[in-house]
Amino acid sequence: MKRGCALTKQEVVKAILASRPVVSSGAGRAFAPANIALCKYWGKRDEELNLPMTSSLSVSLDGLGTTTEICLRGDVDRLYLHDRELAPDSEFARRTSSYLDLFRPESSAGFEVRTRGDIPVAAGLASSASGFAALILALDQLFGWALDGVSLSILARLGSGSACRSVFDGFVEWHAGTRTDGMDSHAEPLNVHWPEFRIALLTLSDREKPVGSRPAMRQTKRTSTLYTAWPVQAAADLRDIRAAISDQDFERLGRVSESNALAMHATMLGARPPVLYWLPETVETLQRIWALRGAGAAIYATMDAGPNVKLLFEAKHEAAVRDEFPEARVVTPFERAEEA
Ligand code: DP6
Repeated sequence: MKRGCALTKQEVVKAILASRPVVSSGAGRAFAPANIALCKYWGKRDEELNLPMTSSLSVSLDGLGTTTEICLRGDVDRLYLHDRELAPDSEFARRTSSYLDLFRPESSAGFEVRTRGDIPVAAGLASSASGFAALILALDQLFGWALDGVSLSILARLGSGSACRSVFDGFVEWHAGTRTDGMDSHAEPLNVHWPEFRIALLTLSDREKPVGSRPAMRQTKRTSTLYTAWPVQAAADLRDIRAAISDQDFERLGRVSESNALAMHATMLGARPPVLYWLPETVETLQRIWALRGAGAAIYATMDAGPNVKLLFEAKHEAAVRDEFPEARVVTPFERAEEA
């Protein structure tokens, strides 16, 4: 698909891999973490290259994500998720194979891909982000490219926008960039450690979502008058969140992150037809979080393209969260930093 003066995915891949070897080392294996955006990515300026309208900022979930093994084998792709082979016409297999098309040494080459992850696919817990990030890291190993983080982040973005942030650990900012070829649109780690920082994942539904984030984003940008306010709000929120991280001011971080997520969902409600990911349990959970906050515990929420809620808090409120939400999965994003 060639559009105006912008590049195609294939041209971006060619430019990045220009002087890299094309020798297979046998197999590649990599892990990439899921990430939760505190300042959301919602809306694209280029749909081919997944170039965002705004910069965004996330935190990677240490140890929770996707592990992928890949090798060249045969002449068709065979994809396994948790050791079960996927039908080639499933959504997951089609998306993966069309991404792999960008990297085949010959058009007739097939890949065998074995993926496992601890995130429900398509339940709004960013499984595509860790999936494409793990895939590009595994391909880098398979072909011995030894690419730097920026190049890997750009290549991961071609699979899924938010995947460009899953190439790194900890707090990560994705610079929207301004170039039409997207070479300045990549993630960068903030290199801040915050050992007390916690996220709890509350899975309220692991059913496949009714509308994928991709069409929902497109529909919001095209039809929601509320979306016109989004880029300005997102830029202000990003500045605030960056400052809150550097000051380790948790209440400011939580307050702005929660409002940013609610504002993103408001833009979706303004779409025609509207996009509503929330279930009654989503609202009920928000109200329970607000009640805890009313009682003095700094606990905040964020939500993505799904009904599930992620709680943001510090270690001192972990007991309160576990008490109120015993089913929640508590993640310590800076665990390794804490051990160091
Ligand atoms: C709500 O990265 O899944 O999770 O670029 O079309 O693959 P594509 O979209 P995707 O969108 C993620 C949207 C979000 C917010 C975020 O992670 O920043």
